Amino acid sequence: MCGIVAAVTQRNIINFLLENIKRLEYRGYDSSGLAIINKNNNFSRVRCVGKVNELIEKTKKKKLFGTIGLAHTRWATHGKVSEKNTHPHISSHIAIVHNGIIENSFQLRSLLTKQGYIFYSETDTEVIVHLLHWEQKKTGKSLLEVMRNSLMKLQGNYSMVVMDSHNPSKLIAVCSGCPLIIGLGTKENFIASDQIALLNITKRFIYLKEGDIAIVKRENIKIFNKDNSIIKRKIIKSDVKYESVKKGKYKHYMEKEIYEQPKSIRNTLKNRLKNNTSIYFPELGLKEINIFLHLEHIQIVACGTSYHAAMVSKHWFESIANIPCDVEVASEFSSRKLAVRKKSFFITLSQSGETADTLRALRISKKLGYLGNLTICNMKGSSLVQESDNYLLTKAGVEIGVASTKSFTTQLTVLLMLVAKIVSIKKKENDIEKKIVKILTILPYRIEEILKKNKEIQNIAKKLYNKKNILFLGRGDQYPIAMEGALKLKEISYIHAEAYPSGELKHGPLALIDKNMPIIITAPKNSLLEKTKKNIQEICTRGGLIYIFSDEEINLEKNITLLKVPYVEEIIAPIFYIVPLQLLAYYIALSKGTNIDQPRNLAKSVTVE
Ligand code: F6R
Repeated sequence: MCGIVAAVTQRNIINFLLENIKRLEYRGYDSSGLAIINKNNNFSRVRCVGKVNELIEKTKKKKLFGTIGLAHTRWATHGKVSEKNTHPHISSHIAIVHNGIIENSFQLRSLLTKQGYIFYSETDTEVIVHLLHWEQKKTGKSLLEVMRNSLMKLQGNYSMVVMDSHNPSKLIAVCSGCPLIIGLGTKENFIASDQIALLNITKRFIYLKEGDIAIVKRENIKIFNKDNSIIKRKIIKSDVKYESVKKGKYKHYMEKEIYEQPKSIRNTLKNRLKNNTSIYFPELGLKEINIFLHLEHIQIVACGTSYHAAMVSKHWFESIANIPCDVEVASEFSSRKLAVRKKSFFITLSQSGETADTLRALRISKKLGYLGNLTICNMKGSSLVQESDNYLLTKAGVEIGVASTKSFTTQLTVLLMLVAKIVSIKKKENDIEKKIVKILTILPYRIEEILKKNKEIQNIAKKLYNKKNILFLGRGDQYPIAMEGALKLKEISYIHAEAYPSGELKHGPLALIDKNMPIIITAPKNSLLEKTKKNIQEICTRGGLIYIFSDEEINLEKNITLLKVPYVEEIIAPIFYIVPLQLLAYYIALSKGTNIDQPRNLAKSVTVE
């Protein structure tokens, strides 16, 4: 939520700010702005509502020059979408960009108003910048000291970058609950919310840790930890390729990411399958293996798409490994009094590793006596990875489309590997592991097969794009797939979509069925299919418009459309069946002409609770 870039260089940084804030547009696209310190040691600021392209146009007309500056793309929280609420915010000689939420901003705002400060915006960010100015005016101390004192007065999660036109050689970066990284250059340094913004410039990054304050100058960087001691943070060399963040031949990132899934799954499996018979996680050591041996329960916590992946894995943990598993949405897990099961192990799932609700759940779990914790995550330097005891990377590659696709299928791949590993450790024999390794090796080919059904799926999309409501049904491990299919559809096409377990239909939702209600059903050939067929019959009798994705011939009545899909092994059926639903959502949104990669009101990385 909200993207930040900043730089201190020897060259004009306008193009850098514009080009690189554009790369962070996936984090928020309500409005964007930038500020630089100009030759007269004053701020020049440009802000506008709408996409970063608007900012680019507006800024280019102004012919600005500056070697230090900051830019921001906003996902509105405090204050509506307007130019005056757009960052950077300025208080006299101090300018700020900020990501996160200041929870006590109303109290601080009234305190500062009493001190004579005039607020031009409704944002919590303007509160911070006036607070910094006030502290400096009162104490005459350096911006660093003023920052430290001011932080003590702020409650909430945030990252921010501040510059001072009286001292135009440095930027101050603060990381507390929201991600911020420093990109290292030669006689120039950069700051951003995500390495994606800086990959065209550098591969060397420092991930700031919780409570860090950094002074970033052209020649050097000084980092202070939360105890105020100077600290050396590790420089991480990124292996993410700049080209991988381009759309290439595809119209949208989401389309590219759907078609990339066979490759992402291959990358996820790479170096983890030993002799084609066993699974090897180099990230896990003896301690973890010992925990796996003794655990008696698994608790998984996640949000959105990651939550749906966790729900599929519950079926696997219980049916394959015979380990009781509970799955909960992170915001709910953190909102109630919890009773922890005996010998329970805690797992979080996240693409970004920055989801505030999931991070909070992890922090809470640490006080609750779990045997240990593990995060399954796509971002190596993320807060979840840093704060978890253990991590397993999904290796989906950079995912830019706001709607998650390849992160879901790679999360499921890692989860299935984990289930297989735990079964072997517990049972002290690896028959199941061997079988799963074999099936996982086939998985990318199976996904390639289902992707070839794109034309047929596009034809179904043409029949559905003007519908107001769509129901998704699934049974067993297909129910979370129905939920994920419905989520994909609603977030990018804005069509109201709901998912139900097939068997639940007759307990209420059947009342919704008439000839205008489309129902999408994924029905793989398995032991549950006969029951699903009965549900299909119930809907048929009431005239609903049914679309079935199945590898089984199903008797066709007038209002049923069957999309026959290729055969897939039962265990990996959930990973396989989500792909046609992703394509369906994509093609429906394409027909509707919505902004597929940046759906309204959403942002890729949800760093506020
Ligand atoms: C849906 C989507 C969101 C995320 C959710 C969790 O397409 O992208 O529902 O899945 O915000 O995000 P992560 O996985 O980054 O924790």
